Amino acid sequence: MSETPDHPTVTRKPDPFVMVVFGASGDLTRRKLMPAIFQLWCENHLPESTAIIGYSRSAKTDESFRTELCDSIRKSLHCHQSLIDDAAWDTFASRIFYQQGAYDSPEDFAALGGRIETLNAERNVSGNCMHYLATPPSAFADIISNLNCAGLARRGQKAPWSRVVIEKPFGTDLDSARELNRIARKVFDEDQIFRIDHYLGKETVQNIMVLRMANSIFEHLWRHDYIDHIQITAAESIGVGTRGGYYDSSGALRDMVQNHLMHLLCLVAMEPPVALTADAIRDEKVKVLRALRPIPARCASNGVVRAQYSAGEINGRNEPGYLQSENVSADSTTETFVAFKAHVDNWRWTGVPFYLRTGKCLPRRCTEISIHFEDIPKVLFNRPPAGPLRPNVLTIRVQPNEGIALEFQTKAPGPTMKIEPLEMDFGYRESFGQAPPDAYQRLLLDAAVGDATLFTRSDEVEAAWRYVAPIIEGCAGSADTMLKYPAGSWGPKEADELIQADGNQWRLQ
Ligand code: BG6
Repeated sequence: MSETPDHPTVTRKPDPFVMVVFGASGDLTRRKLMPAIFQLWCENHLPESTAIIGYSRSAKTDESFRTELCDSIRKSLHCHQSLIDDAAWDTFASRIFYQQGAYDSPEDFAALGGRIETLNAERNVSGNCMHYLATPPSAFADIISNLNCAGLARRGQKAPWSRVVIEKPFGTDLDSARELNRIARKVFDEDQIFRIDHYLGKETVQNIMVLRMANSIFEHLWRHDYIDHIQITAAESIGVGTRGGYYDSSGALRDMVQNHLMHLLCLVAMEPPVALTADAIRDEKVKVLRALRPIPARCASNGVVRAQYSAGEINGRNEPGYLQSENVSADSTTETFVAFKAHVDNWRWTGVPFYLRTGKCLPRRCTEISIHFEDIPKVLFNRPPAGPLRPNVLTIRVQPNEGIALEFQTKAPGPTMKIEPLEMDFGYRESFGQAPPDAYQRLLLDAAVGDATLFTRSDEVEAAWRYVAPIIEGCAGSADTMLKYPAGSWGPKEADELIQADGNQWRLQ
């Protein structure tokens, strides 16, 4: 298994490599991958001899592919109120190539192998290769096996290296995830496989461990004795848009909970690792997943709130209902919202509920983790006339407006003992003078230097499925328990009742 090759504070530049992007015509390549690679290039993180080959079924030339990418990078930069650097683009574009081919054709992969060899020879580089699978998951198995047939997987060989980056979703249930692991591990060693979850590349997510373990004041309190409960909310204001075809066979549990929310929960709940190595960190995350109290399929429809948005208005925008969306079946029972309570059954977290919630078409985009500390004793200030007082809350704002806030009580100036909650607030933009970089930049660079810390290991992905799959199974097709919420609301009232039943309420509402 891989270990972090060098300390993360050291500036890292990968060895020269060729990157092959499968799914070169897709949305992910245009909107996320190529803008991130270009940014890495502009910031001088990539070697001079870097070459990128786009691979997909559509007919394109090197030139038309470059023009397409230039347009999308322009658009992406425009969204961040920035302009493309034409000189940088020209040098970068000359390193981009296109190879047309099918994913299930060994001959096309042989041709790809030839193209890689030619590029290596022209650039006089040793043949390191990163294969990025940005295709629909249905193509993963074919690509992996054809990489092997074409001699591009190179299992067991450290130099030149070959790595495969696999996009989510990694399987649709435990069996399919196991099968995909089996297929990938037949051809690649575990330390060649990088299962990507872009949440782990977010600065704020990486900061969870730093906040906890580089500051003594938090970690000592980070346990059931001092924490009453934890909330994790990933709210999106967008609907499924044009992704109905994919989303309808997925739903919030598969699309967000099994991966993004499980990672957030693990980072919040894990024990300090013995070292900052990929495996030491992932070992601790896996222990959290194993300690999660199972929600058996037969209980899921009672304890888990699932819902679909109906038509509504979000910030002045009229949103059609989920069932009216493109490529969504009119009688779909796929959830666009889910809320439930999880328990981590270990010594640290005994008795502390973790409330998880995610949904589309909620009033605003906001992902946050809030740590709600225990109530203070009902003496002194915490009784009339000053009390009752609100317990302290530490909020990690994952996005947007990335930052951390600590709510505490303070005396309002004046002759009476009036106590008010105030916030100490740290914002990334204000403190560091810029917004955090896009998650893909960090993850692509990590994969290129061989650091797997922010990627999901095979046992981790399976442990997450082991927990989430029975919930999905228990809810499957149960149209009777599918609730509705108008787009623009915070979900069905049952999600509020879920947390209110324990005397708590959602921080965001
Ligand atoms: C993706 C999901 O993994 O994450 C999408 O497939 C979701 O449905 C997206 O919209 C959310 O990512 P972010 O970074 O915008 O929170």
